[in-house]
Amino acid sequence: MELYVLRSKEEIGLEVARRIVERVKENPNIVLGLATGSTPLPTYKAIVKYSLSENVSYKNVTTFNLDEYVGLDENNNQSYRFFMNDNLFKYLDFGTTSHHFPSLENISSYDEEIEKYGGIDIQILGIGSNGHIAFNEPFTDIKEKTHVVKLSENTIKDNSRFFNSIDEVPTKAITMGLETILKSKEIILIATGKNKSVAVKKMLEGTYDPSCPASSLNLAKCKVHIYIDDECYEGMK
Ligand code: PGA
Repeated sequence: MELYVLRSKEEIGLEVARRIVERVKENPNIVLGLATGSTPLPTYKAIVKYSLSENVSYKNVTTFNLDEYVGLDENNNQSYRFFMNDNLFKYLDFGTTSHHFPSLENISSYDEEIEKYGGIDIQILGIGSNGHIAFNEPFTDIKEKTHVVKLSENTIKDNSRFFNSIDEVPTKAITMGLETILKSKEIILIATGKNKSVAVKKMLEGTYDPSCPASSLNLAKCKVHIYIDDECYEGMK
């Protein structure tokens, strides 16, 4: 694991975007694993900025998203498909069949589909305040592939800020499993803000603790880059 402490979430966005755009230039057929939530927004904004100013094409890039709520379709502005279109896809020249999201229909073939494309070259991750990655909540089996999860109270509460009320937050989601994520060829996890400090500290202890799913990244065979901001770092002291 390699840790980078930068001043702000905007600075992290620029740095991670630079890394990703360079990789897309090197390999126009790259397979990207994408995350939603507030954390990757500065990164997506900077990817769009760099890509448009440097004429980088995404025509042959394939994307696999980490997760999706059960029961929200792509027209619902809280669905992750909507989020990705709104914040990244619509600005770039992706092909119409470039994007993959886990769903109740493809749940048993999602991991195979990723393999069919040669695996995920770079996986972007956020982290929950309880240490979850994607929707893999504490004590998820590390051998899980893409599966349905019942969201924890903690996650429903955290995510309720995006909805009109906590009752509107779906209680179930479909997520890549820890095994799916750990198969990626490179992982970039971003954590910004003080409310992530406890989870990040646990993850950086260097061993796998099932109470903090992000700590499973200590078992990854690939390069894992952890980007945190000053606020997150200060909270770890
Ligand atoms: P956030 O969520 O980016 O909205 O903080 C991160 C996560 O739950 O993985």
